[in-house]
Amino acid sequence: MNFDFNEKQLMVIKNAKEYTEKYLAPGVIERDETSTYPIDAYRKLGELGFVGLPYSSEYGGSDAGYLEYVLAVEEIAKVDASMAISYSVATSLYAGPIAGFGTEEQKKKYLPPVLSGKSLGAFNLTEPNAGSDAAGVITRAEKKGDRYILNGLKCFSTNGPLADYFFVVASTNPELKTKGLSGFIVEKAFPGVSIGKIENKMGIRSAQVSEVIFDNVEVPAENLILEEGKGFMLAMKTLDSGRMGVAAQGLGIAEGAFEIAKNYLKTREQFGKPLYKNQYLAFKMAELEMQIEQAKLLLYKAACDKDTGKPYTISAAKAKYACTNAAMDVTTAAVQMLGGNGYMREYHVERMMRDAKITQIYEGTNEIQKLVISGGLFR
Ligand code: CAA
Repeated sequence: MNFDFNEKQLMVIKNAKEYTEKYLAPGVIERDETSTYPIDAYRKLGELGFVGLPYSSEYGGSDAGYLEYVLAVEEIAKVDASMAISYSVATSLYAGPIAGFGTEEQKKKYLPPVLSGKSLGAFNLTEPNAGSDAAGVITRAEKKGDRYILNGLKCFSTNGPLADYFFVVASTNPELKTKGLSGFIVEKAFPGVSIGKIENKMGIRSAQVSEVIFDNVEVPAENLILEEGKGFMLAMKTLDSGRMGVAAQGLGIAEGAFEIAKNYLKTREQFGKPLYKNQYLAFKMAELEMQIEQAKLLLYKAACDKDTGKPYTISAAKAKYACTNAAMDVTTAAVQMLGGNGYMREYHVERMMRDAKITQIYEGTNEIQKLVISGGLFR
């Protein structure tokens, strides 16, 4: 077992740090306040090869692995958790099912625009009555000749308002429940696709999240991924990978807030000494440091499982659970340690605390992660 990063991984970390400092740190507070998405920064992320990190260069990727990809998400989330999720959704949730299960034609047509950063991709599974119970999808795809007619409403679609392409799960046979769900690639340009309500969120405010509405949308049959009935499996497998992206986002948020708290404890003096000289604060930092390290090891293990062809459903669920709980615990502690300053925008940790909360909820709540982990124990 080797815990050292190789040169490629060190390069990804270095480049991601440089990218983040140059393109994301400036204006991060203002983007949160105004819910503004930095589209030019996303385009740059694609140009630099980050969006396509784990995919083949044949389709515009960078021929690296999932470990490199989670390292990049982690670095980005230290500074801007909104870009981290937008990036993760484009890479894991949109490109994942196409790269993993698409035909050669689907990969050639639908991966390069997103992996290059020219367009955004989104993932449309969730519906008002199909959240944790993902099998409850009622969006309908009816076959008519060489097309499917798509009707329904998806919600909480990260990147939804900005994306040109969507991976959509719809029912081709409602009687068969999960076995009747199918996965499609849908272009925003197809007539009948529209954006509904744009969400006004507690955190990740710069990321754009919306409803996506399909009204008699004609989807060519060649845009079906695999065959009819494979949609639930495709969604589950895609989320297994996506959860590593959310874990990396949580880990980055935790590390970003930890650094701010550490610097504050070193520089802020009260009662005639720096704050860190209070053992109750130093011990709290020791606990958080251990929590971050434990979460990090689970995440890197999950990514290595995927990269080495091992099963990763359960390791990804453990990583998602541990990293996102670390995000919430560290940011909440950081706000408290910074006292009144922690509550103020310019110290960043209040934003990080708001951003952390959603990581415990989306791409499977942490209760769902426990369902997946315990399912593995007793199956
Ligand atoms: N990989 C492959 N197949 C899987 C699988 C996996 N990880 N998990 C389940 N399956 C298969 C099962 O093997 C089973 O197949 P068979 O019928 O052939 O045996 C089938 O799928 C049904 O499995 P279950 O009976 O376990 O399914 P379930 O209905 O009980 O649901 C669940 C399981 C884990 C609770 C699932 O519904 C789930 O993950 N829910 C959470 C959904 C979620 O994460 N949503 C987030 C959406 S994205 C988002 O957050 C927005 C965004 O933009 C960021």
